[in-house]
Amino acid sequence: MNDPILTESKDGVFCIEICRPDKKNALTSAMYTALADALDAAERDAAVRVIVIHGQPGIFTAGNDLGDFLANPPLQENPPPPVFRFLDTFSSLKKPFIAAVSGVAVGVGTTLLLHCDLVYAGTSARFQLPFVSLGLCPEAASSLLLPALAGHARAAEMLLLCEPFDATKAREVGLVNAVLPDEQVVEHALAQARKLAALPAASVRLTKQMLKSAQQALIAQTMQSEVRHFKERLVSPEAKEAFAAFFDKRKPDFGQFNQ
Ligand code: COA
Repeated sequence: MNDPILTESKDGVFCIEICRPDKKNALTSAMYTALADALDAAERDAAVRVIVIHGQPGIFTAGNDLGDFLANPPLQENPPPPVFRFLDTFSSLKKPFIAAVSGVAVGVGTTLLLHCDLVYAGTSARFQLPFVSLGLCPEAASSLLLPALAGHARAAEMLLLCEPFDATKAREVGLVNAVLPDEQVVEHALAQARKLAALPAASVRLTKQMLKSAQQALIAQTMQSEVRHFKERLVSPEAKEAFAAFFDKRKPDFGQFNQ
C-alpha cells in the first residue's frame, strides 16, 4: 500500500498531502502519527519556512476513521494517542500553516482549519462538524474558536445541528480566505506559501506568535477539557451506535438511550 501521508520540501515550503482517496482520506492512528511526525520535522528543519496541507481534488479528509474509533478508541493518557498528539502539534506550530481544501472536510478536516493561518477552498469544499451526531463532542478547541469566529448562533448550527456548509459560507464566517476553482486551489495555496517563504522568516514567525498569543493558553486549556469529554463520549453507547450505523449504512437510533 502507498504511504497515505506524502511530504515534499521545496523552496522553503513543506507540503503534506493526505492520500487515502478510496476512504475519502479518513485518518487512522498511523496517519495521525505520520502527520504529527511530518509537522515536527518541518518545524525542526531550518530550511522550511511555511507548511502546506492538502488532499486531492474533491477530497480533503473525511475526518477520523470511524472503524479505528470503534476498534481502538484513543483512550490512553501517556503517551497521548496519535490523534491528540496531532491536534496538539498543529495547534502549537510556530511556522505558518496553510490549508488547501476541496471536497469533503469533515471533523478534524474542518477543526484543523481553525488553527491554520491561511485557508483556500475549492468550490466543491463541503465542511462538516458531525461530533454531536456521532455521540461525541467538539475537539481541537473548536468549542472556543468557532463561536469566536462565527458567533454563537452560526457555531451552534455547525456544532449542535452538525449541518454541512459550503465554501461560500466558510468564507462568509471567516474560516477561509478565498474560494477558487477546485483545480486551482493547491497551486494558489503553494503560490501564497512561496510568497510567505520569501519574507523575513523571523518577522513572519514573530507576527504569527503575536496573532495567536492572546488565545494560546486558553486554546490549550480548552483542548485539554475537550479531550477529557471526548474520551468519555467515544465509549458511550450513543457513539458506538453512531459508528455501527455508519458502517451498516443506516440511520442511527438514539431514541433507545436515556439521558
Ligand atoms: N471512516 C472510515 N471510513 C470512511 C470514513 C470515515 N470517517 N469516511 C468515508 N469512509 C469510507 C466509506 O466507508 C466508504 O468505504 P467503502 O467504499 O469501503 O464502503 C468510502 O470511504 C467512501 O465513502 P462514501 O460514504 O461512500 O462517500 P460519499 O462521497 O458518499 O460520502 C462522506 C463522503 C465523507 C460525506 C461520508 O463518507 C461520511 O459522512 N463519512 C463519515 C465522516 C465522519 O463522520 N467522520 C468522523 C468525524 S469525527
